[in-house]
Amino acid sequence: MPTDGNLKVMSKHIAIIGGTSGIGRATVAQLQADGHTVHAACRTPEKLADLEIVAQPFDAAAPGPLTWPERLDGFVYFPGSISLKPFHRLTPEDFQRDLQVNLFGAIAALQSALPALKASGNASVVLFSTVAVAQGMPMHASIAAAKGAVEALAKSLAAEWAPAIRVNVIAPSLTDTPLAGALLNSDLKKEAAAKRHPLQQVGRSEDLATLVAHLLSGHSRFMTGQVLHVDGGLSSVRTF
Ligand SMILES: NC(=O)c1ccc[n+]([C@@H]2O[C@H](COP(=O)([O-])OP(=O)(O)OC[C@H]3O[C@@H](n4cnc5c(N)ncnc54)[C@H](OP(=O)(O)O)[C@@H]3O)[C@@H](O)[C@H]2O)c1
Repeated sequence: MPTDGNLKVMSKHIAIIGGTSGIGRATVAQLQADGHTVHAACRTPEKLADLEIVAQPFDAAAPGPLTWPERLDGFVYFPGSISLKPFHRLTPEDFQRDLQVNLFGAIAALQSALPALKASGNASVVLFSTVAVAQGMPMHASIAAAKGAVEALAKSLAAEWAPAIRVNVIAPSLTDTPLAGALLNSDLKKEAAAKRHPLQQVGRSEDLATLVAHLLSGHSRFMTGQVLHVDGGLSSVRTF
């Protein structure tokens, strides 16, 4: 039987949307190591074959039907985008794409998983936002608008589904994953990005994966409706 810190826990059934790269893949590896069962839905299921996970297809740009086991104890939605442009160059299609992948995809997947999450009686949902919601940043209008909507959705659902289902959001700053590749693809860019953060570093997938695992576990049983800023201090700290 896996342990949940000091708590002895049953193996949980966790729905993972995305999970093929970056923070999602690190989370899948962590959940497997903790003895939980991952039920994945992703755009490129073959990317999870080496972890011996048979994933069902899911494209957040055009969500189709999903099937889940009778009981889900956790749900994590990873699909996201970074499309940075000045406001005057953003098209309605840019806004629509960011809303589709980040918000509407999550809504479709959550609605399909809801009966199984209710069946758990004690489930936890984790969604992803960005530091650019709490801290205004140039070029971020489209993604910040989409992720701001995700934060609002999460708080509403946390209220609507309490006490049976907890809902929390993680809002990272720049994290070294394929999504952020173009922003971190040289030593110069990496150094400059690190220096923008009070903690003088960018995030690693593992920094976020351990928090996801915590939010899915009984150790966070008293937390819901929260936005957790894992951002090296960027949204809240000045060092001068
Ligand atoms: N990395 C950062 O700097 C950063 C900063 C702030 C917030 N975030 C948020 O953190 C979350 C995880 O990002 P990450 O950095 O781990 O990115 P990542 O390494 O690029 O992983 C993104 C995941 O989302 C999946 N995905 C993307 N578009 C999809 C679609 N249309 N349908 C289904 N799946 C799709 C990808 O699947 P494929 O493998 O099929 O492409 C992949 O599994 C995202 O919500 C992102 O917005 C990241």
